[in-house]
Amino acid sequence: MIFVTGGAGFIGANFVLDWLAQSDEPVLNYDKLTYAGNLNNLASLKNDSRHVFVQGDINDNAQLCALFFEYQPRAIVHFAAESHVDRSILGPAAFVTTNVNGTFALLEAARTYWQSLEGDEKSAFRFLHVSTDEVYGTLGADDAPFSETKAYAPNSPYSATKAASDHLVRAYHHTYGMPVLTTNCSNNYGPYHFPEKLIPLMITNARAGKELPVYGDGLQVRDWLYVTDHCSAIRRVLESGKPGETYNIGGWNEQTNLSVVHTLCELLDELQAKPEGSYKDQIRHITDRPGHDRRYAIDARKIEKELGWTPQETFETGLKKTVAWYLANDSWTKQVQSGEYLQWVALQYNEEEQA
Ligand code: NAD
Ligand code: DAU
Repeated sequence: MIFVTGGAGFIGANFVLDWLAQSDEPVLNYDKLTYAGNLNNLASLKNDSRHVFVQGDINDNAQLCALFFEYQPRAIVHFAAESHVDRSILGPAAFVTTNVNGTFALLEAARTYWQSLEGDEKSAFRFLHVSTDEVYGTLGADDAPFSETKAYAPNSPYSATKAASDHLVRAYHHTYGMPVLTTNCSNNYGPYHFPEKLIPLMITNARAGKELPVYGDGLQVRDWLYVTDHCSAIRRVLESGKPGETYNIGGWNEQTNLSVVHTLCELLDELQAKPEGSYKDQIRHITDRPGHDRRYAIDARKIEKELGWTPQETFETGLKKTVAWYLANDSWTKQVQSGEYLQWVALQYNEEEQA
C-alpha cells in the first residue's frame, strides 16, 4: 500500500481519487483535517475498503511509526502542509509547525521504518515530497522559467517553510541514503479547491454577487496546471523518478491574474448569465499582497524528457471543467464556507482599503 499525508485536502484528495480509479493498491490517508481538510472530498470512497483514513498530525512521530510498522507502506507521498500564502502572512507560526517541524517528524518516522526494511523492500521504498515552485522566488518579465538548478529564494513565510522542508528531504537522501523524490509544481486548479485561493474564490464570489478582489494591478503571472495533471506527474515520478532527484511540474501556461479572472467571468456569463451586465462588473482592485511575487513560470523539460510526462488538459478545457464542477457542487461549497471560512474572509478582505 501507499501512505499519503494530507489526502483530504485539495490536491491530496484528487490524488487519492485518481490513484484508486487507476489501481487497486490501497491507500492509507493520514490527515489532521485542519480547516483545509474535508472528508466530503472523498465521499465517493465511503464504502471502499482500499481507502483507510486515519486522523492525525504529521508532528506525531509515535503514531506515524506505529502506522508504518502496522501497514508496511512501500511509499509515502507527502502532501500535508499549510498551503495558503495569505494565511502565512497573517499567521506564520502554523506554517513552521506543520511544514518544517511536521516534515521533520515524518522524515524521522520514515527513516526508522525504512532502516528496518531489508533487500528489495528497502531499495524499492520511496518518500515523495510534494513541493512548490514558490521556493524559487520571483521572476522578472524576461527571465527564463524556473529549472531544477535555479537557486532557492523563497519570499513568503509559506515558501520559506516549504523551502526548509525541501532541504530536510534532500539532506535525508544525502546523509542517510533514504530514497527520496521531490516535486516542485506550479499553481493547481480544479475540483475540491478550497475557496480561499484565487480561482475558486472568484467563482464562488461571482455567483454570490460579491466583489472579485484582485490584488494590486492584477498583472502578476502564475503558471496554471489542472490538478489531475499534477496527480499524473506525481504518479510518474513515484514510478520512475530517480531517488535524490527533484522534478519541476508545470503546464507551460502563464497567465496574469486579471486575465484568469476575466476568463472565469466570461465562462460564467456563458454558463449562468446574470439578469443584466457581466460578472466582470464585480471586479475590484484592492491593496496588494505584501511581498507579492510578480511572476512564476516552470521549465518542465526534465520531467517531460526523462519521465515522458506531459499535461493532458489545456487551460481552456481545465477551466471549463472546473467552472462546471463548481456549478454542479453547490452543497460542497456551502459546507466548506463554514464559520472558520467566514472569519478568514472578514479578516483578509473586509479590512482592506481600496487601492
Ligand atoms: P490544502 O491546504 O488544500 O490541503 C492540505 C491538507 O493537509 C489538508 O487536508 C490539511 O488538513 C492537511 N494538514 C495540514 N496540516 C497537517 C498536519 N499537521 N498533519 C496532517 N495533515 C495536515 O493544500 P493543497 O493545495 O492540496 O496542497 C497540497 C500540497 O501541495 C502542499 O504541500 C502544497 O505545498 C503543495 N502544492 C500546492 C500547490 C497548489 O497550487 N495548491 C501547488 C504546488 C504544490
Ligand atoms: O505556485 C504554487 C503555489 O500556488 C502553491 O504552492 C500554493 O500552495 C498555492 O496556494 C498557490 O499560491 P498563490 O499565492 O500563487 O495562489 P493564490 O490562489 O493564493 O493566488 C494566486 C494569485 O492571485 C496570486 O498572485 C495572488 C492573487 N490573488 C489571490 C487571491 C486569493 C488575488 O489577486 N486576489 C485574491 O483574493
